[in-house]
Amino acid sequence: MNRRKFVKASAFSSMALSIQKIGACNFDSAVVKDNPIVISTWDAGLRANKAAWQILKDGGRALDAVEKGVMVTEAEQNCCVGLSANPDRDGFVTLDASIMDEYFNCGSVAFLERIKHPISVARRVMEKTPHVMLVGSGAQEFAVAEGFPLEPQELSEQAQKNYDNWLKKSKYTPPAINVESQINPKNHGPFAPYKLDNGEWNHDTIGMVAMDAKGNLSGSCTTSGAGFKMRGRVGDSPIIGAGLFVDNEIGACTATGQGEDVIRIAGSHTVVELMRQGLSPEEACQKAIERIMKIKGKDAEKIQVAFLALNKKGEVGTYAIHKGFSYAIKRNDLEALIPSKYKME
Ligand code: GLY
Repeated sequence: MNRRKFVKASAFSSMALSIQKIGACNFDSAVVKDNPIVISTWDAGLRANKAAWQILKDGGRALDAVEKGVMVTEAEQNCCVGLSANPDRDGFVTLDASIMDEYFNCGSVAFLERIKHPISVARRVMEKTPHVMLVGSGAQEFAVAEGFPLEPQELSEQAQKNYDNWLKKSKYTPPAINVESQINPKNHGPFAPYKLDNGEWNHDTIGMVAMDAKGNLSGSCTTSGAGFKMRGRVGDSPIIGAGLFVDNEIGACTATGQGEDVIRIAGSHTVVELMRQGLSPEEACQKAIERIMKIKGKDAEKIQVAFLALNKKGEVGTYAIHKGFSYAIKRNDLEALIPSKYKME
């Protein structure tokens, strides 16, 4: 799928407008419309927003919307998120997710295997445990105890092809056979998202934030992490304050891109704090991107990071290091995929 191509106008309903073609420069993010609103990362967000909207349009809670919304993406086949995604370098798909509501309640899971909907397990962690984060086998045991089925440990057809190709190129030998290759940094997978041969950015995360009809904010973020990552690697998505942060008085932010660099600056928390200081969502996202670029120096050319934020007034903003990031928006008067502003081609 080409996320640079905007979704063509299609009949959505007699009430709602068609999905619109919008350029980054001609969308006035400061024009605030009635609640509710949902925004999410990349073109997969269009489909996720539809599910979230079913809840928001009937006056439902933003928390329910952001869970149901990203579940759509987690279940999609051959997508960038969920069990059909690319595995780690040992051939296992490991998933990370987080969720946060309007009361600073939050939950997350990391390094979770064989569970179809990590976002729902993250919500159970939030609602049914005294903890914020569960990882690995503990997270899986909790999920199973909560009734989530253990899915077969097999790669999707596309992921298997991608993995076979990666194995050929990287000459990676699984650690049980060759311990040397386990610690050789050259055998790390390309971090996420990486540039595909056709020049586009691969991506692997959906982040979503929403405001409901009561004006309450919530957010969710779910990912398979970096393709062909080291076993055990966890990115920003399940880390509250990095891949996701919600402060119901100020706004909410989610991140996509190279998680290590989002974690470095506590990215989503930084964006929300900048909004608290009076910056618009776009200005706040831009400042956070500039902070990462300053830290990375010339290496910023090699990575993609984007932030997507919503403030309490319903204003939306986004900023990316590179061209190619888009976000999906749905509100009463608008359904669109909008290209983000960026620093570099
Ligand atoms: N942003 C997703 C990850 O780095 O895992």
